[in-house]
Amino acid sequence: MTVTIVGSQLGDEGKGGVVDLYGDAADVVVRYQGGDNAGHTVVEGDEEYKLSLVPSGAVRDKVGVLGNGCVVNPETLFDEMDALRERGLDPDVRLARRAHVIFPYHRALDGIEEEAKSDSDAEVGTTGRGIGPTYEDKVGRRGVRVGDLLDPDVLREKLEYVVPQKRALAEEVYGVETGEEFDVDALYEQYREYGERLAEEDMTVDAGDFLGDRIDSGKNVMFEGAQGTVIDIDHGNYPYVTSSNPTAGGAATGTGVSPGVVGGGEVIGIVKAYLTRVGSGPLPTELGGVAGDTPGYDEQGEGENEELAEYIREEGGEYGTVTGRPRRVGWLDVPMLRHAARTNGFTGLAVNHVDVLAGLDEVKVGHSYDLDGEELFTMPATTERWGRCEPNLRSFDGWEDVDWDAVAEQGYDAIPANARRYLDYVSDQLDTDVYAVGVGPGREQTVVLEDPFE
Ligand code: IMP
Repeated sequence: MTVTIVGSQLGDEGKGGVVDLYGDAADVVVRYQGGDNAGHTVVEGDEEYKLSLVPSGAVRDKVGVLGNGCVVNPETLFDEMDALRERGLDPDVRLARRAHVIFPYHRALDGIEEEAKSDSDAEVGTTGRGIGPTYEDKVGRRGVRVGDLLDPDVLREKLEYVVPQKRALAEEVYGVETGEEFDVDALYEQYREYGERLAEEDMTVDAGDFLGDRIDSGKNVMFEGAQGTVIDIDHGNYPYVTSSNPTAGGAATGTGVSPGVVGGGEVIGIVKAYLTRVGSGPLPTELGGVAGDTPGYDEQGEGENEELAEYIREEGGEYGTVTGRPRRVGWLDVPMLRHAARTNGFTGLAVNHVDVLAGLDEVKVGHSYDLDGEELFTMPATTERWGRCEPNLRSFDGWEDVDWDAVAEQGYDAIPANARRYLDYVSDQLDTDVYAVGVGPGREQTVVLEDPFE
C-alpha cells in the first residue's frame, strides 16, 4: 500500500519526523517534487541528520527514490550521500531518468531574478537553489533530464542549445557579468562526470516502473512531500510559492503511479500546531514580523505580538533548515487547513509541536476570515484578497509544560486536557482523525494513535 505525507501549511510542518516515524514499515520512500530546497530533519538518538534532497528514509536503510517530479542538483545529491556514508550509513538512492537537472546557471538566475524583483519589493524570498528556473526550463521544453546525463552526446547537444540563451538572459536582460556557470564546456565536463557516477552506482530508474513493480509485489511505499499546500504552484498563494506540486496529486504525476494508487492509500496531512512562513507573502494570523519578509514591515515595524512570536520562534527553533533565516510566526490558520484538507483528501492528521505552545496562558486560532464584510471559512484564491483577510480568532485555554517524554510513552490520555481540546477542535474542523501528535523533535517524542501502514 502507499502512504503520502503532505504539508498542510507553508512547509516546515515537521514532515521529516513523521516520515521517519511511519517509515519503519515502508520499503521505499519517494520524493515526488521539489529539490534541494527542502529541509528535512531526522533525529535518531543523539544523531541529527539534515537532508535537503535525499529522501529521509535513506537514514533508515530504506530505498530512497527521487521521482520525475523532482529537480535534482547532482552536486547536493552526492554531497549528502557522501556525508551519510561518512557517518556509517549506506544510502540506496534511485533517481528518475525523467527528473530534471539543476545546473549552476539555474542557481545564478534564481539570485539574479530575486535581486531584480527586490527593486520593487516583489521578491519571493526563494531558497536560491535554482528551483524555479529549472522548472521553467522543464515547462519550456528546454530542460536537461537525468537520463540525458547518461549520454554525453545528448548532454552536449542540449547544453549547446540552452546555455547561450541563459547567458544572453543574464547578460543582456539583467546586465550581469557571467562566468563558468554559463560556460558550455565547463558544464559539460562537470555534468558528464556526474552522469558517469550515476551509471557506475546504477542509480537511475524509470520511477513509474520501479515503483509499480514494488507496489504490485505488496511492498509498502511512502511518498514524502516537501514544502506544503500553501506554497504549491497551483493551490498556493501565487506568486509566493515554490514551482512544484507538494499537494497529494503531485505524488501521482511526480512518480508515475496512478492517482488511484495514491488516493487508494492513506494521505496524512502534517499540521504544525501554530503557523510559520519563510519568505514573503501574506500571513493573516501573523503575530510579529520579520524584516525583509513580512509585507509592510519596513513601514509598520514589529507587530503587536512581537514578543509572543519571538518566544514561539525560540521555543520551536523556527529558523530555516536550508537557509537559517528566522521564520515568521502566527497562530494556526484554520481556513488554510480546510483548503488543504479538500485539496489533498487527508485520511489522517499528524499535529506537531504541541509542546512548543505549552506554558502559554492562552492559545488562539484563526477560525475564519472577515473579508469585505463577509465571513470566509476557506482561503480566497487570489493572494491580494488573502492579504486583506482579517482573522476571526478563537481562544483556547493554554496547557501546562509537562514531561513530554513521559507523555509520549504513556499515550494520548497523558496529553494535558486543554491540548486535547485543541486537537479535538482541529480534528472536528477538518473532519479527519488525528493519527499522531508530535511533542518533541525525535520520533520517540510522538504520541501515536494510528499507524497508516497497519
Ligand atoms: P523556492 O522553492 O526556492 O523557489 O522558494 C519559493 C518559496 O517557497 C519561498 O518563499 C521559500 O521560502 C519557500 N520554500 C521553499 N522550500 C521551502 C521549505 O522546504 N520550507 C518552507 N518554505 C519553503
